[in-house]
Amino acid sequence: MGSNRLGQRDRSPTASSLSQRVPYAAISLPGNAVTPKPTYRWQPTTAEVAERFGLLESQIVRFDHNTSPNDTAWAAGIVSPVARGLNEYPGASYLSLRRAAGNYVGIDEMNIVPGAGIDELILLVAKAFLRPESQATAVVPTYPLYEIATTQHGADFVPVEQTRLNMFPLDAFSEAAETSDVTWLCVPNNPTGERIDDEAIRRILRSAKGLVVLDAAYAEYAGDRWAAWVNHYPNLLVLHTLSKGFALAGIRVGFGVGNTATIGELDKVRPPGSIATLSQFLAEKALAEPQRMLRAVEGISKERARFTTALSDAGIAVLPSTTNFVLCHFGPHAGDLANLLLTEGLIVRSYPQEHQLHTFLRFTVRSSVDNDRLVAAIRRHS
Ligand SMILES: Cc1ncc(COP(=O)(O)O)c(C=O)c1O
Repeated sequence: MGSNRLGQRDRSPTASSLSQRVPYAAISLPGNAVTPKPTYRWQPTTAEVAERFGLLESQIVRFDHNTSPNDTAWAAGIVSPVARGLNEYPGASYLSLRRAAGNYVGIDEMNIVPGAGIDELILLVAKAFLRPESQATAVVPTYPLYEIATTQHGADFVPVEQTRLNMFPLDAFSEAAETSDVTWLCVPNNPTGERIDDEAIRRILRSAKGLVVLDAAYAEYAGDRWAAWVNHYPNLLVLHTLSKGFALAGIRVGFGVGNTATIGELDKVRPPGSIATLSQFLAEKALAEPQRMLRAVEGISKERARFTTALSDAGIAVLPSTTNFVLCHFGPHAGDLANLLLTEGLIVRSYPQEHQLHTFLRFTVRSSVDNDRLVAAIRRHS
């Protein structure tokens, strides 16, 4: 995101150029002109942004991480007994966490593998199932770690480009899945928010030669549960996280649901203790009391509707979403707007010039106060 033009308001784009009032369905996505070697791209920390722009950390709002605005005060009150026993390692099998996750999705604990977030599970899938002679595929744009994990193991990554929003390239993707050892599928998709229907997922599962990894990071927002499907589709691995609907991104816990053979392969490459004792404890508590998550998800979904209306009223094309983020079309100056917002401590997700989505910005749904602050800033710069 950083550029030497940050803060140079005199060079900011004009009102009419910032938000292009084009209905999203009419927006075509350009192909990837350049295909740079994928690597991790760390976002600046809140402290770094505050220091750079002379702001207080409390003035910064992260609209870029798709995390929850709800704090975790409930967790602070219950950790002290566990915090007294941190001299020991967590039990490497994480049996009680597997049980809690199994109870939550309604499946046997034998079908669960724990991980330090979905991110670790993605890397474990690549480690267990991909070699230099392997192939993996995903529809792009999607979560970038799939490609990074694939190429880290020397495997061939076959991107299936989505050229129109909300028109998932099902035929081309199913065909790519036929020859792929791993098929990465994000539902609803980050960053587009698109939720393909169950019949499309079934078709991909039937076509795929290898493992289909269904990244269900945002499933709580649409009430989706695919865990029971692993009994019918031995090639399905569903990935869940405590980071999004459960509002516990800081504890780094996720889990995979698959058939026992897949779980066994992942357990072979899983480090013995990547989930800290405190994290395991809080994840188990959260999974055992899903009402808290359900209430929070309901609140965020309502706020998403309000936020969407406020953005639309400001003349911005907002894509439909069943997640805790919205993708918005701004036109060629999207990156400039992101840089201007950053100077005010509003961190949004923008995309580099060579990315298919460089004319878009993605906003996490935060509190109504923070969302209003963002909309007001966008209006001011438009
Ligand atoms: C689609 C998707 N998968 C996985 C992750 C990472 O999840 P976790 O925090 O469980 O590692 C994210 C985070 O933004 C995501 O959007």
